[in-house]
This record gives sequence, structure tokens and C-alpha cells, in this order.
Amino acid sequence: MKIGCPKEIKPQEFRVGMTPNAAQEAIARGHEVIIETGAGQGSGFDNADYIAAGATIVDTAAEVFATADMIVKVKEPQAAERKMLREGQLLFTYLHLAPDPDQTHDLLASGCTAIAYETVTDSSGGLPLLAPMSEVAGRLAPQVGSWTLQKANGGRGVLMGGVPGVGPAKVVVIGGGVVGTHAAQIAAGMGADVTVLDRSLPRLRYLDDVFGNRFKNQYSTAGATAELIQSADMVIGAVLIPGAAAPKLVTREQLSTMKPGAVLVDVAIDQGGCFETSKATTHAEPIYEVDGIMHYCVANMPGAVARTSTIALGNATMPFMLALADKGWKQACQDDPHLLAGLNVHAGQLTYYAVGKALGIDVVSPNVVIKS
Ligand SMILES: NC(=O)c1ccc[n+]([C@@H]2O[C@H](COP(=O)([O-])OP(=O)(O)OC[C@H]3O[C@@H](n4cnc5c(N)ncnc54)[C@H](O)[C@@H]3O)[C@@H](O)[C@H]2O)c1
Repeated sequence: MKIGCPKEIKPQEFRVGMTPNAAQEAIARGHEVIIETGAGQGSGFDNADYIAAGATIVDTAAEVFATADMIVKVKEPQAAERKMLREGQLLFTYLHLAPDPDQTHDLLASGCTAIAYETVTDSSGGLPLLAPMSEVAGRLAPQVGSWTLQKANGGRGVLMGGVPGVGPAKVVVIGGGVVGTHAAQIAAGMGADVTVLDRSLPRLRYLDDVFGNRFKNQYSTAGATAELIQSADMVIGAVLIPGAAAPKLVTREQLSTMKPGAVLVDVAIDQGGCFETSKATTHAEPIYEVDGIMHYCVANMPGAVARTSTIALGNATMPFMLALADKGWKQACQDDPHLLAGLNVHAGQLTYYAVGKALGIDVVSPNVVIKS
């Protein structure tokens, strides 16, 4: 199969859909890989790295789209890219169609087959192609939060690990899922005094079993949150209620109960944020202050560490990409129901129920489509 990887064109996107190592694996199995010049640059991969892996470099995205049987990307195709998709072509990338009617209609009109990273599942009920980005954002949260805690950035001027004779920073993580667990691990590793709140007792038991007393955990109630934030230097918001906007767990009124210069890092901002005073920010201007409390609310945190994010995403997507290339999408989806869960669009038909419901478009069952 001819696999094409264009340079990402969404503003502020530095990741790339294929690493040189993934390209090499595909080429070793007899596939051809076509990369747009400079596609890997934002993640620290030169054309030479792809050439050494056996890939072909072309000058334009148009050449990639015209040649490839399968397009592998990171972000949803932008309007200019959607015009280049054609009938029978396979698209494998993040799509997030439910809030995006324009993209959905363009994909349907193109006749392509589109498999969305974010809806591919795994046997434990997780989302294996979303998890790596949650891991990155979680591990980044204490790092950006500790920078914000510095005096020059508006913070309290507290060092995460303290020093001999001076206690560590107090960090509260609300939500102990993928983001929260990785955030707690790093904050504890920096020497902070960490408490994780979650509403799931099985999750709290898991955290207790696995991490022992590296950090504390507590059942999440409004009362527990209200009490813990009063002494916190940093609060990391990491809750998720699937399919719903994030619940507001810290109100504006409560900010006055916190220590001046304390920091809120709202990782859940991509779902609307879990602090009442959160509003999405960018890497260019990541922080702002409300009532003396510093806020960090960047909606695409993994972009700050594009190289790590690209490699982490590539590790997760590669087995699926290889299955799609080796078997063709239909056989690969027949063999793997978790990959089939990623099928959102095929030949002008929508195949994902939640998207259909959100946009009022009729849906054809993916099980019917793969048998057709
Ligand atoms: N800003 C970014 O760049 C970025 C990157 C990746 C993920 N995210 C977002 O981070 C959020 C968390 O993602 P995740 O992968 O960790 O999800 P997850 O499903 O693994 O974890 C969410 C956790 O929140 C818990 N929870 C739900 N309601 C709660 C409450 N009221 N109090 C305490 N805990 C509660 C759940 O029990 C679960 O353990 C999501 O909104 C996700 O979209 C943002």
C-alpha cells in the first residue's frame, strides 16, 4: 500500500503522523511511504531521517494526497486538505466529528473511508489512541504548574520539593484517571505533597494498590474539594465525564478561600474546564490571573512537547496503521472490533452513532458496511 503523511497545517501543530521508525516498519513489510518535505521538522525529524528509513520525500501535500492509498495524520483534515481527499482513499487521524458539521459533510462528500483515532477502543474499555496524549498532558501539568508557581510568573513563589527545613508544595489533583495519575506521579516525583481526588472507588483502590503512599487519595466530594484547595499551592483539574462537559468543581467564590498566588492547572479545559474561572489559553499566552489565583488553561498541552507527543502517538497508532496497510481497512476492521470502533465515515455514509446523533445525520452500522 502507498502510505502518505502530509505536514500538519493546523496552526500551532508541530506533531507529525508518522515517525521515521514507523515509516521503516511499514517499508520493511513491503509498503511505500510518501512524506511531505519538512513534515517531521516540528518534532525534530529531518527529511534525511525519513530518507534513511526508505521513504520518498515529495514537495507538496497535493502530491501526498494524489499518490497515497492511506493518509496518516495527527489533526483533523483542514478545509484545504479535505478538498484533496478522494473516493476510496483511507484517512487515519484524529477527527472529533461531533462538534464539526463542516468537516463531517466534507468527509462524506469526498467518498473517503475515515478511521478516527479518538474512537478506537481496547479490551479494557479504554481509548488507546487518546491515552498517550492524556499521559503527556498529565505529566506536563505539574511541570507547567511549577513554572507558574514561580514569583515572576505571578505564583506564590513556592518550590515543589521544598528544601531541608522548608516543607514541599501542596498539590491537589482532581480526577485520578489517565491525566490525574500521571500528574500525581510527576508532582510526587518532584517532591510535592500530593492528594488525588476521584469519584470512583475502584479507581481510588487501584491508585492505592499501585502507588501506595507515594501520594494520598481521597473520595471526591464538594466538601473535600473545598477543604483541600484552601491549603493547596497547586490544583490540577483532570476530571472527565465521558460525553459531557466537565463539571465545575471550584467556583469563583472559592478562589478567595485559596492562598494568593496559588495555581490552577485546568487540563480538562478541552471539555470546558472544571474550574468556573477557566477559559482556554494558548501556548503563546498560557496563563492569566483571576482574584489573585493564577490559571493555566492550554487546550492542546501536548503541542508544547511535540517530539515526545509525536513518538508517543506513533507508538500507539503504528500497530493499527500496519494492520490497515497489510490487510486493507475492511479486513483489518473485520479482524479487530476495536479498530472497527474507529470507523466514522465510509463512501458517503456516516458510521458512528454518537456523531450522527450530535449532527442529525443518518448512520449506517459499521458492521453492515464491512460486510458490504
Ligand atoms: N488540555 C489538554 O491538552 C488535554 C490533553 C489530554 C487530555 N485532556 C483532558 O483531560 C481530561 C481527563 O482525561 P483522562 O484521559 O484522564 O480521562 P479519564 O477518563 O482517564 O479520567 C477522568 C477521571 O475523572 C474522574 N471523575 C469524574 N468526575 C469526577 C469528580 N466530580 N471528581 C473527581 N473525579 C472525577 C473519573 O472517575 C476518572 O477517573 C479530559 O477532559 C481530557 O479531554 C486535556
